[in-house]
Amino acid sequence: MGLLREGINEVIATTWNNAAPMGIILRGGEYRMALFRGSHTAMNIERWGWVVANIVHDPVLWVRTAFEDLPLAAFIEEEVEGFLVHRLPEAEAWVAFDADIEHRARESMTAILNPVKEVVVSPAVHPVNRGYNSVIEASVHGTRWLWNKDPILRELIDHHRAIIRRCGGPRELEALEMLEGYLGKAGDQKSG
Ligand SMILES: Cc1cc2nc3c(=O)[nH]c(=O)nc-3n(C[C@H](O)[C@H](O)[C@H](O)COP(=O)(O)O)c2cc1C
Repeated sequence: MGLLREGINEVIATTWNNAAPMGIILRGGEYRMALFRGSHTAMNIERWGWVVANIVHDPVLWVRTAFEDLPLAAFIEEEVEGFLVHRLPEAEAWVAFDADIEHRARESMTAILNPVKEVVVSPAVHPVNRGYNSVIEASVHGTRWLWNKDPILRELIDHHRAIIRRCGGPRELEALEMLEGYLGKAGDQKSG
């Protein structure tokens, strides 16, 4: 046990037939998620009591899963302690958690997680690329902008767009184009 690190680990969380970028908070040896209620991830965790943290590094996948639902064929089934979970084929490593709701508020809730299985599939070397990091940042701001249309978030996205253009490779540029498409047609994206 121990693939994730103290602090907030950005992963693509898979629940039953669903994938979305999420933070897994590890503090003092305890794992938690802070979830906006209304996302598929939050609903699935409440319903099924498990989540898989997929460690991935494809910028396009981050943007796609932030704004869109993946088809069923995009998931791999794994058996964990006698029950089936879904994970992404692109995961370099994954961690399956039991999840219990710790606290519910009107718009958000926290889940406490207990790791039950960790698998390293195909670890790769990832030289630091500021364009890649900015894809993650722009995606976070983009998902929040869809909720509240705050103009400050658009300014932050503009800042990260410039870094992606300067530092990114083809996959980061493709992710940026996809992100701009989702933000441009705001209104018909997934709700969570
Ligand atoms: C890097 C990143 C981290 C995110 N972390 C969280 C999080 O910790 N909790 C949350 O509720 N949403 C988080 N989001 C937003 C969700 O990914 C977004 O609302 C998504 O559309 C939810 O999809 P779903 O409805 O399929 O669950 C994050 C987005 C990004 C890009």
